[in-house]
Amino acid sequence: MAKVAPSILAADFANMGKDVGKLESWGASMVHCDVMDGVFVPNMSLGPQLIKAIRPYTSLPLDVHLMIVKPERHIEPFAKAGADSITVHQEATPHLHRALALIRENGAKTGVALNPSTNIATIENVLDMIDMVLIMTVNPGYGGQSFIPAMFTKLAALRRMINQSGCNISIQVDGGVGPDNAAALARAGVDILVAGTSIFAAEDPEAVVRVMGAGV
Ligand code: DX5
Ligand code: ZN
Repeated sequence: MAKVAPSILAADFANMGKDVGKLESWGASMVHCDVMDGVFVPNMSLGPQLIKAIRPYTSLPLDVHLMIVKPERHIEPFAKAGADSITVHQEATPHLHRALALIRENGAKTGVALNPSTNIATIENVLDMIDMVLIMTVNPGYGGQSFIPAMFTKLAALRRMINQSGCNISIQVDGGVGPDNAAALARAGVDILVAGTSIFAAEDPEAVVRVMGAGV
């Protein structure tokens, strides 16, 4: 069984507190917050102010996915705003080890995201610094894109690499995830399913969260 992390990118920005407040009763395990800078990815989204604003509306962990260049510049403000975990992209900094150390110094759990074309070998030497690996199953930047099936091979290799390392690291997937592929992803060893459109555009979002979380 995998945990479900709804991505608020697909929620109602004019009623964000209300949307976030429902997620725990739907059976979600964390709230995924997508931060985009218009440079690392073409789109722009939200900043620490929104994280701070939604913090009082849920007791679920706030999982902040930074799609920004030189993420080390912004780790402290996001941690202070209430982020429980902070994920940086391997491709966004030449100093990944330093960025991960900074996240831990600021009291948050660490995540590293890999774009579809990035090899898992790029994180092999910093596994002891990582709490969570985020495998992008679309090219980051937008919600509502189609899942890239070739990522199943990458997930299998990552599962092997983590198991062999003996490190306690969760695997997340993000992009094009929904009830259609949730069970297969859980079987592939994924721990956390991030999903935006498939949840928030559904007629019954709670049912989608429950179905995805039940998949084995
Ligand atoms: C994409 C973001 C995702 C996005 C997923 O760049 O990182 O978290 O919200 O959206 P869906 O689930 O619609 O593909
Ligand atoms: Zn994301």
